[in-house]
Amino acid sequence: MVDISLRVNGSERKVNVSPDTPLLWVLRDTLELTGTKFGCGAGLCGACTVHVDGAAVRSCSTPVSQVAGKSVTTIEGLSANGLHAVQKAWIAEEVPQCGYCQAGQIMEAAALLAKNPQPSDEQITQAMSGNICRCGTYERIRRAIHRAAGTGGAR
Ligand code: FES
Ligand code: FES
Repeated sequence: MVDISLRVNGSERKVNVSPDTPLLWVLRDTLELTGTKFGCGAGLCGACTVHVDGAAVRSCSTPVSQVAGKSVTTIEGLSANGLHAVQKAWIAEEVPQCGYCQAGQIMEAAALLAKNPQPSDEQITQAMSGNICRCGTYERIRRAIHRAAGTGGAR
């Protein structure tokens, strides 16, 4: 066990864990931020997506030692009041079905729009291809990303 410091949703946090502990477990079990979900545990579904220094990463397959000193944002910290442009678009398009994958989808979409404010359909497909939705909400996700980008419907 070692002390590891990281910045989570704007606050400095110090955790005492084994350095190879997946970031997902530190977030959920140590810091009690359970908005980030466990799906496959193998980097294959995207349910566990968070931002590290602004980039979307799979927290299930990121050892916490890799994020020491970095800035981690989870769904709880994406906006102060749950009204990030992506969250507002998700509500307007009524995207979620069971909801399990949606925190990861929103974090992936927010990272995409931060990098590319007006993505094409093809760029959305490419960026979101690693985020699996068992309920098949993909078309609503696409519409919500266009809405958040201010580009209206599909292009
Ligand atoms: S739980 Fe991390 S990618 Fe599936
Ligand atoms: S909304 Fe159910 S898995 Fe995506």
